[in-house]
Amino acid sequence: PAPIRIAPSILSADFAALGQEVRAIEAAGADWVHIDVMDGHFVPNLTIGPAVVKALRPHSTLPFDVHLMISPVDHFLDAFAAAGADIITVHPEAGPHIHRTVQHIKSLGKQAGVSLNPATPAKMLDYLIDDIDLVLIMSVNPGFGGQSFITSQLRKIEAVRKMIDKSGRDIRLEVDGGIDAGTAPLAIAAGADVLVAGTATFKGGPDAYADNIRRLRGA
Ligand code: DX5
Ligand code: ZN
Repeated sequence: PAPIRIAPSILSADFAALGQEVRAIEAAGADWVHIDVMDGHFVPNLTIGPAVVKALRPHSTLPFDVHLMISPVDHFLDAFAAAGADIITVHPEAGPHIHRTVQHIKSLGKQAGVSLNPATPAKMLDYLIDDIDLVLIMSVNPGFGGQSFITSQLRKIEAVRKMIDKSGRDIRLEVDGGIDAGTAPLAIAAGADVLVAGTATFKGGPDAYADNIRRLRGA
């Protein structure tokens, strides 16, 4: 199995000091930087656009894991790719042709992820699994940090783990929402290999980041 990767969500960082925050999590042992993009339409919150991703790019050598919660999404893919995204993840509900959206991401030379909301079934991936690099299981309804892990998603993680193994392809299985030292072992046992963590990474301020990340990895 792939090593466990920790992807802090900068949604819980200090937005007045984002460059420093991204440097701090890299120094603290993060594997990826998870960037939550929200449009106030697909989800009820507004966050970060391509200009901010571009401004952060010189502050980190880690992969930028860009989670797009925007609809329509297609006309923003080029901008996020140019801004320095390495992985671009989209929701199937964010456009009429998810397969075309995935092809578009791949044509930009980026890794393509598909994210499933809590009520979206694993079956959605049947005709995408041969084309994607990552599956992102939402263990909260997208829009906000600090929500509680929805335990029914563990069954979905198990189902998607089977699909990935059956495909024989190198696909990351990422879980996002309510991950802490208590829920991380459940997600890993179900088959996840990338853990997104906002609250659990950034709580306690910069001095605590290394311990926070170590605790998640140790779980
Ligand atoms: C929610 C976002 C998450 C969020 C996770 O829509 O996709 O990445 O920041 O935050 P925590 O880890 O606090 O649940
Ligand atoms: Zn996210």
